[in-house]
Amino acid sequence: MNLKELKEEAQQALEDISDPKYLESLRIKYLGRKGEVTKILRSLSKKSLAERKKVGGAANQLKQDLNYLFDQKLKELKAVNKEQVGLDITQPGTRVQLGHLHPLTQVERHIRKIFQDLNFSVLEGPEVESSYNNFDALNIPADHPARDMWDTFWLKDFDSLLLRTHTSPMQIRYMRDHKPPFQIIVPGRVFRYEATDASHEINFYQFEGLMVGDDVSLANFKYVVEEFFERFFNKEVKIRFRPSYFPFTEPSVEVDIQIPGQQEWLEVMGAGLVHPNVLKAVGYNPKHYQGFAFGGGVDRLAMLKYGIDDIRLFYNGDLRFVQQF
Ligand code: FA5
Repeated sequence: MNLKELKEEAQQALEDISDPKYLESLRIKYLGRKGEVTKILRSLSKKSLAERKKVGGAANQLKQDLNYLFDQKLKELKAVNKEQVGLDITQPGTRVQLGHLHPLTQVERHIRKIFQDLNFSVLEGPEVESSYNNFDALNIPADHPARDMWDTFWLKDFDSLLLRTHTSPMQIRYMRDHKPPFQIIVPGRVFRYEATDASHEINFYQFEGLMVGDDVSLANFKYVVEEFFERFFNKEVKIRFRPSYFPFTEPSVEVDIQIPGQQEWLEVMGAGLVHPNVLKAVGYNPKHYQGFAFGGGVDRLAMLKYGIDDIRLFYNGDLRFVQQF
């Protein structure tokens, strides 16, 4: 076979190929150590000088041409393969990026864990509530000015349904179905129809605590809340109770904390002894049972723990913020 025929044959074979697997064996057939073109080049040493010049140049040219054609064919087949299956199986894989829990979820889980360790049961409640559970049963009648403390998103077309403004309605739901003694903690999402700023969101998280029994006092609450904050911040934290007002507790207090090394007192939760009217609303005899309740903000605790100065950062979806935790 002369060089021209050899080239034509190789070109034809290349054209017929559609699977990259066979491309390499074809390359070996022509350009391998014992390949057709290699054989011709090797045989040159036995030829005359004139012939060597004539055939040698053409054979080397053919070797170059075929190398080029094989490379082109390989590229072509890879492109077709990528188009057909949507990926290039010869490419290294892309790394899967693992995410992590949102800082608010991390803090909420930490809160749950601490109270579980203190022997509290953890439960959750619905975000859509009746105005009865959210207000009336908590000693806030319809015309009471205290309703203004909780600006409300009402559900259109449903007269008495709303997005809960606090986790306190879970006090009512739980007490209606259970007999004391018990101690529960209820983390969850709440909503308020108010203007946002660096420390207020319209959607945020609270955790409600409730402990009721024969002889539960504010002293018990003081122990629980001190223990909680020490475990939460992992250092000794100073606690201060300030007189306050909530319709569903009597007496009511605001709990302030002072973190070591910091001057200011920070308001972190509302609390008090469960109001007798609330106990009556769930069918308990206030002469037999008493207890304490408290409600804190998960977001505010997360801000204190991590030194975050704007609550809105939690909700704007900016990964540069979230990835720092
Ligand atoms: C209440 O919601 C009461 N239910 C708490 C309570 C429960 C008192 C049981 C007594 C007994 P208050 O509106 O103060 O109270 O909210 C409690 C906490 O939620 C605040 O201390 C604060 O940490 C957080 N909070 C309140 N409003 C916002 C807001 N707009 N954005 C973020 N956090 C808020």
